[in-house]
Amino acid sequence: MSPVSASSQTLAIEGGSPVRERLLPYGRQSIEESDIQAVVEVLRADWLTTGPKVGEFERAFAAQLGAAHAVSFSSGTAALHAAVFAAGLQSGDEAITSPLTFAATANCVLYQGATPVFAEVSSDTLNVDPEQIAGKVSAKTRVILPVDYAGHPADLAAILKIARKHDLVVIEDACHALGAEVGEERVGGIADMTVFSFHPVKHITTGEGGMVTTNRAECAEKLRRFRNHGISSEARQRQNAGQWHYEMVLLGFNYRLPDFACALGLEQLQRLNGNLARRRAIAARYGAAFRDVAGVIPPAVRPGVNPAWHLYPIRLDLAKLTVDRAQVFRALRAENIGVNVHYIPVHFHPYYRERFGDRRGEFPVAEAAYERLISLPMFHAMTDQDVEDVIAAVRKVVGYYAR
Ligand SMILES: Cc1ncc(COP(=O)(O)O)c(C=O)c1O
Repeated sequence: MSPVSASSQTLAIEGGSPVRERLLPYGRQSIEESDIQAVVEVLRADWLTTGPKVGEFERAFAAQLGAAHAVSFSSGTAALHAAVFAAGLQSGDEAITSPLTFAATANCVLYQGATPVFAEVSSDTLNVDPEQIAGKVSAKTRVILPVDYAGHPADLAAILKIARKHDLVVIEDACHALGAEVGEERVGGIADMTVFSFHPVKHITTGEGGMVTTNRAECAEKLRRFRNHGISSEARQRQNAGQWHYEMVLLGFNYRLPDFACALGLEQLQRLNGNLARRRAIAARYGAAFRDVAGVIPPAVRPGVNPAWHLYPIRLDLAKLTVDRAQVFRALRAENIGVNVHYIPVHFHPYYRERFGDRRGEFPVAEAAYERLISLPMFHAMTDQDVEDVIAAVRKVVGYYAR
């Protein structure tokens, strides 16, 4: 379909027929019969939590990513909290992170009584810019917390270089980037600690859930204690050893991922490579389709990386359109395309404005991106027809509003 014919169709928002009958969400899980069987088996067995599936899932996950250790958590947010704790982040410290992320990335720093310090993002990947990080390092900095936005790995080599110079810990928020590669290596064994989420819209799901991977045994030990109230042993170890005695050695939380969730994770993990391949094929199709749609800027990919494509965020070239992002968003929703926006910059949120003052205007690259971003549907269960519907709707709407 050429842009000319696309622009001649009446938009659904103006009373025309929508591209699809039913809403296509921007992301969703896929559950197969084998997932259900795996969960049911655990429900019929002895251990609903702190049982054998936890270690099985963790070992399989670490092996997939080439990391020495993996520690599971009840959510990606809990995993982030544990990681900043294990890095030694405490009251008075600072952690440098991206303003263009889900609030949980910065919130975990606040949980430890420390301060998130935002650094501007690069205009191509929208990942935090290492040069900007370097300019924010202070005597209080303890952690650098880059985010792999949309599944494109942050510039880890440059960030690790800064960290080693100043003796800082790098915690990679890879909640978007399970399976992303830098060269031949998967993220998970590159940063000091790497954090993943198993929310239903992610590459694999456990309902809610998260994981931290690390090559550092002392970090893995701290992470395990932190998720279990700060207690030095687990109930099953004590039962097996016929012991009742335990010691709480640090102030932890109950952030455990139950066995039936780990069983689901184990099943889903077997399909990770297939899920990644499908997401990459969808991204390639989108990229080819949008290359010559005036007004649409597809996401950039730097040489040497293979993104995991949690999201597919296009940016609108507003100079080429007669309307703003909000109108394009509404028009795409009317076509039954479940678009979304990732993210409202963290410093825009009322909580951050009240606590740290109104900092809007300080991060022009992130803020200009926010005004232009629209996340298109991206999930591994999308059919070819779903993908073509999204492309047709974008051409129809953007073509209609083209200058
Ligand atoms: C970048 C980022 N960090 C952290 C999280 C938190 O993960 P969870 O929802 O598993 O707590 C998310 C969740 O979507 C995220 O997108």
